[in-house]
Amino acid sequence: MGNKKLIGPITQLLTLDQLPIKGALKDEQLEIVEQAGIVVEGEKILKTGLWTALKTEFLQAELVELKGDFVAIPGLVDCHTHICFGGSRARDFAMRNAGKSYLEIAQAGGGIWDTVTQTRALSLDELAAATAKNANRHLSEGVTTIEVKSGYGLSVEEELKMLRAIQKAKASTPADLVPTCLAAHMKPRDFEGSPTEYLERMANQLFPVLEEEKLSGRIDAFVEKSAFSPEEITPYLEKAKALGFDLTVHADQFTAGGSAVAVELGAKSADHLEASTDTEVKLLAKSDTIAVALPGASIGLGCAFTPARKILDQGGALAIASDWNPGSAPMGDLIAQASILATFEKLSTTEVLAGISFRAAAALGLDDRGKITSGKLADFVLFPTSDYREILYQQGKLKPTMVWKNGKKVG
Ligand code: NIG
Ligand code: FE
Repeated sequence: MGNKKLIGPITQLLTLDQLPIKGALKDEQLEIVEQAGIVVEGEKILKTGLWTALKTEFLQAELVELKGDFVAIPGLVDCHTHICFGGSRARDFAMRNAGKSYLEIAQAGGGIWDTVTQTRALSLDELAAATAKNANRHLSEGVTTIEVKSGYGLSVEEELKMLRAIQKAKASTPADLVPTCLAAHMKPRDFEGSPTEYLERMANQLFPVLEEEKLSGRIDAFVEKSAFSPEEITPYLEKAKALGFDLTVHADQFTAGGSAVAVELGAKSADHLEASTDTEVKLLAKSDTIAVALPGASIGLGCAFTPARKILDQGGALAIASDWNPGSAPMGDLIAQASILATFEKLSTTEVLAGISFRAAAALGLDDRGKITSGKLADFVLFPTSDYREILYQQGKLKPTMVWKNGKKVG
């Protein structure tokens, strides 16, 4: 009995129980338990139900009694970030908004390569501290699981430094960090050789160390005209798959093409999709690859949003992630971005909540979180309101009062 906790009363508990991974969702499908409680045992949720009933059933549990109105939702899952980086790209942002082209910004020393230079300049410890700081900001906004990509190292040693820094950052944040190797972000300017030769070097020299040191079980690639073509990337991703890595792809951001590679290779997710046409939408919707919308990149670049409505209506699985990075998506506010996507794409509250919880967890291959139901990790967030709709309505301004991770109050 000793390590059970009973938390409540909660004005509205959104369990997200019974909601499927794929397809459109109506708000009528949302399970809302009013005047609820959550029983936590160790790291997991033991039971949810009515506060009064749980209070009688769990007399010995440690009571965490709440005063006031609260809405509880699952701890949020951000399945696509680049929060391990050095420096800033404020100059890019200002130049872009002043009408400068991609090329002009690159010629002024901007773009991904600028962040590579600024990231390489940091020590492993400095990078770990920067990553933990960003993760803890995210945690305070309710994000309890955060995918973190490398991809600003772009040499065997520098990619390893980033991934080791992400591992090190785990000790300085209660959030779960899920590292992903994005050595295939672009061919680095200082690599003398073809894109294929660069990818071969990464596969031959980096993949074995990722396995040996358990640095990452996931491989990502940027499939785009400015990065790698489908033909260049396919053998690289096939090698990763054969070794047992999960795959994810930066796909269809500016030109369509990457999502077909992702689906073909059975990637866990295809992310971005701003340039996906009906052909790609159909392909994704039929597959088990989760489509990940990144509204932060649309907002940061002033580009189109991912066709989220179409993906859901065709029966696809849609997750929403922040893409928090210093270049295209500097805001890093998942709830604000998801709420803005909802207004442009006409997504129901249930679709948005699913997209930033259990559907995002599925994009990471995790089925142990993202719902407040018995047996899942006790990751949940309490907002100071009596109406769940306020969370998205306030577009990121309503911050959580309490964040629970693995059965512990962490914020
Ligand atoms: O997901 N699209 C490629 N990569 C990042 C941007 C990285 C950067 O600009 O630093 C993205 O938007
Ligand atoms: Fe990204």
